[in-house]
Amino acid sequence: MEISNGLEDVCIKNTALTFIDGEKGVLRYRGYGIKDLVEKCSYEEVSFLMLFGELPDRKELAQFTSDIQKGYALPEFTRRVISSLPDDSDALSVFETAFASLSCGEDGFVWSRENIARKAPEALGRASAVVAAAFRHMVDKEMKMPVPTDSYAGSFLNACFDGDVSRQSVTVMNRALVLYADHEVPASTTAAIVSCSTLSDMYSSIAAAVAALKGPLHGGAAEAAYAQFEDIGSPENVDSWFQKNVVEGRRRLMGFGHRVYRTYDPRMAIFKSMARELSTSAEEKRTLEIAEKLEKLGVERFSPKQIFPNTDFYSGTAFKCIGFPIHMFTALFALSRTVGWIAHMSEYIENGGRIMRPRANYTGHGPRVLQSASQK
Ligand code: ACO
Repeated sequence: MEISNGLEDVCIKNTALTFIDGEKGVLRYRGYGIKDLVEKCSYEEVSFLMLFGELPDRKELAQFTSDIQKGYALPEFTRRVISSLPDDSDALSVFETAFASLSCGEDGFVWSRENIARKAPEALGRASAVVAAAFRHMVDKEMKMPVPTDSYAGSFLNACFDGDVSRQSVTVMNRALVLYADHEVPASTTAAIVSCSTLSDMYSSIAAAVAALKGPLHGGAAEAAYAQFEDIGSPENVDSWFQKNVVEGRRRLMGFGHRVYRTYDPRMAIFKSMARELSTSAEEKRTLEIAEKLEKLGVERFSPKQIFPNTDFYSGTAFKCIGFPIHMFTALFALSRTVGWIAHMSEYIENGGRIMRPRANYTGHGPRVLQSASQK
């Protein structure tokens, strides 16, 4: 049997959701360019587009938004689960645990169109409430559920920051949500598909996706990239840090490289321009300068190997500027990607996807004579 290490170039499904041209750096959701979507659409509109195939009209959007808002009130048992977690829990672990708890009572979930239309907006509402609760748990504030405003991004930020939120932060949050909403079948989405292919329920399958997202090679890269900037500390240290850690230490440059993109990730430039716009304090400007210097050195060294900065290189810098600490970044990614996971799972099932059951090529012992401890 031929093995594809890391499933490279293995195609697991047809999709009408997301198109990536990794050579040219093109990303489209259902045919619409990412830049257009970021500039012109709310996350709610993009979510509707991903789930149901077309952008919503006013009436559809109003109904969908109201369905999401109904999901803001977390069940009491999930609130208790979140409150019982250790104070120093990172937000993504809270997300994972909370979503696993939300699967209680979901046995026998059927992936029908009607159930997806009902459950998907509820899960988006729950995701907002869970990440806001995870943030407040982290900063030792009383739990607060999002309340409806004119936007999903605004309701989420209000719940995190007690309403002390600027228009600019809401715009940035909305853009980040759209940018991270889907990206075909990376590790987390594949994990979700593996889970739902067994006909497991939506919430359990999202928890499976979150587990795969956590690692620093995938969603955790935004935190790892920002940790590099903190480790470097000052723009004057970039050259020596790069030489010591990346050139001599052969450490991976986090926020660089991608299995699919052989050029710049188109989302990176948008995050970078948001980070530039938002970096106004001396500290923010210093971090941005470190990031830009590091990007330049990284591109000089790695572009001959077709390794370029990915979306996670600047996303953390933007998130930090709107008030989130580093251990929130992956949870913010998960919040955005929840819709992509659901859309891919429903598409997989709808297209007759079978249970995922690959093979492993056995390389162990041949038949052996067993001697248990008592026989020796
Ligand atoms: N820094 C230095 N070298 C790198 C990097 C990097 N960031 N990424 C890949 N390489 C090198 C590898 O060392 C390897 O070199 P070699 O052929 O000389 O041994 C070669 O490029 C291929 O690397 P693989 O790990 O085999 O590539 P793969 O496609 O499996 O991995 C990945 C992709 C995991 C994203 C990788 O580029 C990486 O580790 N990047 C850093 C973490 C990161 O930023 N992840 C976020 C990805 S985007 C996202 O999930 C949202």
